[in-house]
Amino acid sequence: MSDSQFTPRVFSGMQPSGGLTLGNYLGALKRYVEMQDEGTYETVYCMVDLHAITVWQDPAELAAKTRELAAAYIAAGVDPERSILINQSQVPEHAQLGWVFNCVARMGWMQRMTQFKDKAGKNAQNASLGLFGYPALMAADILIYHATHVPVGDDQKQHLELTRDIAAKFNHDYGVDFFPLTEPVIKGAATRVMSLRDGSKKMSKSDPSDASRINMTDDADTIAKKIRKAKTDPDALPSEVKGLEDRPEARNLVNIYAALADMSVEQVLADHGGAQFGTFKPALAELAVAKLSPIASEMTRLMGDVTEIDRLLARGAEQAREITAPILKKTYEIVGMVGS
Ligand code: AMP
Ligand code: TRP
Repeated sequence: MSDSQFTPRVFSGMQPSGGLTLGNYLGALKRYVEMQDEGTYETVYCMVDLHAITVWQDPAELAAKTRELAAAYIAAGVDPERSILINQSQVPEHAQLGWVFNCVARMGWMQRMTQFKDKAGKNAQNASLGLFGYPALMAADILIYHATHVPVGDDQKQHLELTRDIAAKFNHDYGVDFFPLTEPVIKGAATRVMSLRDGSKKMSKSDPSDASRINMTDDADTIAKKIRKAKTDPDALPSEVKGLEDRPEARNLVNIYAALADMSVEQVLADHGGAQFGTFKPALAELAVAKLSPIASEMTRLMGDVTEIDRLLARGAEQAREITAPILKKTYEIVGMVGS
């Protein structure tokens, strides 16, 4: 199937279930802004509150985190005048298409999803049905816009493959060429930012150790302290990428530096090869503070006017529905629902 019949359109989202980490920023949010600024795509960015409640969320906190995530998007450079900014539950077509996709996706496909296995843990029988069906709703988020590109971190690759499988099965079962086969955009030097305490674990907002991550709202001193304490090995930095093999913690810090500075890993090593961590870490801390502090202070400013955030989200939902309502109607028609 040729994707040329589809408007170049980007969709992506994050769960408003905790604070944002440097991993979210470098793996995804930074790319949201770049793709918006490229001007080639229509861009739609979402707070996926329906996904967040697949595990328990305190209601007041969920609302606060949703607004905070909207503020983070805007502070990082998502411009509500150029991108459609939405909260998932305010655009009902996501959940409506999600139901149709629950009936397209197969149990066996879902059982293979590693994020479900990780999140459900040992007691999968006690996980919510929503957590199991999570990737079908994610496919609906994307395909209700006929989105052609989805910027995400490396951990979402499997979900995007499933999104393509769902689109292909729907098209095949109904004999149509209706949903695009969406391309993941997993790019940059830091598609998988690792924990500062353990180079084999992903940096995550759910890690019990706060020292394992940099939060987007950490102040300059905290950022510097966490980087200073980050786990490393005793060797100096190599001058070539090959020298980072089997040095996961060193590689992680170099990747973070490259992504923050918009440099390649090769360039970073050309500049810092031979340096000890005692020198490299302060340089990294300075760079991180320079890039992250303005975002944190802009977030705080935006959070001071919650009414304005709510107004932007209401407007975003209206703009989104101009795209999603016709696509849902057409889907229902294809499926054979009377009255659509
Ligand atoms: P989540 O916080 O799970 O909703 O993730 C939101 C986005 O951030 C997704 O595109 C993830 O792939 C991305 N992401 C989360 N953690 C990391 C990480 N440690 N490194 C790179 N990308 C990440
Ligand atoms: N599953 C994604 C995550 O955990 C969040 C998400 C939900 C998403 N719907 C999406 C990402 C659609 C991209 C596109 O990070």
